[in-house]
Amino acid sequence: MQPVTPAARRYDATTIFFHWATAALVAVQWLGAHTIDWFPRGPLRVDARSVHITLGVVLAGLLIGRILWRLTRGRRLPLADDGALNIVAKATHWGLYGLLIAMVLVGLFLTWTRGDSLFNAFTIPRYDPGDTALPHQVLEVHATIGWIILGLAGLHAGAALVHRYLWRDGVLDRMRPARSTIP
Ligand code: HEM
Ligand code: HEM
Repeated sequence: MQPVTPAARRYDATTIFFHWATAALVAVQWLGAHTIDWFPRGPLRVDARSVHITLGVVLAGLLIGRILWRLTRGRRLPLADDGALNIVAKATHWGLYGLLIAMVLVGLFLTWTRGDSLFNAFTIPRYDPGDTALPHQVLEVHATIGWIILGLAGLHAGAALVHRYLWRDGVLDRMRPARSTIP
């Protein structure tokens, strides 16, 4: 059992790294996806989409690492809320994990159904060239999950800020990098 020292009341550095790297990458992916169409059709747009796909694969790696770390050596802390709020917090966290996994899987499937060129250098063969409807449907699902993640992550971040600025407890500090405790 881990000793209950002040350090043990915080998440470990690896968990904190995974949390913020995931959050940053989700934001970059969401914003990046919406700028792909700003690029003129042709090699530049292919490059923009390739960046989105490549960072998507990086996100998949981070997610696998994060889940394995959480299941093995990552520090798990009891949630700060009781009763109904505890259930809401748990459902939000599991919901975010589930949606991120779904986003990555649907993103990979989307890449396959569309077929693509990665940085104008590697060809990703198309799943069924005769089916033009499927890529549109999968894109709709992908974009919709993106909106749901954004909404849920917004509520989750809002709750963290309520803990910090209204209830003034240490929940946000538990997920902050070590040398930056809030004054
Ligand atoms: C949390 C992570 C992700 C977010 C927030 C995200 C977000 C989005 C959004 C909002 C779109 C639709 C853009 C539009 O309406 O035209 C999109 C398109 C796309 N995404 Fe993702 N995505 C993520 C992860 C991935 C992953 C892991 C892959 C594959 C490895 C991927 C591959 C694609 C592809 C191929 C498109 C189509 C781009 C186009 O139409 O030009 N995405 N993504
Ligand atoms: C896309 C963005 C985000 C995602 C996907 C995300 C996801 C998660 C997940 C899954 C957990 C549960 C950790 C676990 O038990 O394994 C968590 C915890 C936490 N997150 Fe986020 N998060 C995001 C953004 C944010 C933001 C912007 C903040 C702060 C403003 C924040 C603050 C926290 C805090 C304080 C905890 C620990 C809660 C506790 O232990 O009671 N998160 N996050």
